Amino acid sequence: MEVKVFKNYETLSKAAAEAVINQVKEDSNSIIGLATGSSPIGIYDEMIKDYQNHHTSYQNIKTFNLDEYYGINQDHSQSYYHFMMKHLFKHIDIKQENIHIPNGSISDIDSECDSYNRMLEENQIDIQILGIGSNGHIGFNEPGTSFQSTTHYVKLDEKTRSDNARFFASIEEVPKHAVTMGIQNILNSNKIILVASGKNKADAVYQMVKGPLDSSCPASALQMHDNVTVYVDEEAASKL
Ligand code: F6R
Repeated sequence: MEVKVFKNYETLSKAAAEAVINQVKEDSNSIIGLATGSSPIGIYDEMIKDYQNHHTSYQNIKTFNLDEYYGINQDHSQSYYHFMMKHLFKHIDIKQENIHIPNGSISDIDSECDSYNRMLEENQIDIQILGIGSNGHIGFNEPGTSFQSTTHYVKLDEKTRSDNARFFASIEEVPKHAVTMGIQNILNSNKIILVASGKNKADAVYQMVKGPLDSSCPASALQMHDNVTVYVDEEAASKL
């Protein structure tokens, strides 16, 4: 696992975005794994700027998002579908049919997970973008999740719900469940980049990089992958 430490969020986002943009330039048919939350917004801003200034095309790019809340519709202001449209998709030339995000408003959630897993088997991700939860989760693979897990329905940790309450009017409105790619799906990607900033990520970053390979820190599973680059600011790196 390579760890790159940057002065601040802006510089780490630029460097991480460069890795994604280079992948798209090298192979215009690339498959990209995407994350939501506040961490990757800087990457998406850079991708949009690059698209506007250098016309890097996403016409043949396919994307697969990590996760989606369960029990809210796509048009809810906090759905990850809505997030991706707002922060990336509506600004670039990606085709709607090439966008894949788990559907968290379907009643037959098992078949939704099966079909997402099948699509992931047929479409190997070239580069996967990740953030990390303050409890060490990746995607919504909460502490205790098996490293062999594939796409599944998950009960969110109370820590995750309280961390994400900042996006909702109150904690009661934060969904209690979600659908997420599993850790095995994430490890199947060719290359993984993870971005983290701020003091509240320092413990999780430490456990991911230096801690034991243990499901109490799901991100420690990334130690098993041979092409992971971690982009952190000085605060998130402060315990390394
Ligand atoms: C989001 C996701 C989560 C976030 C994590 C960090 O798709 O998979 O693992 O990356 O919760 O969230 P932020 O970036 O908001 O601190």
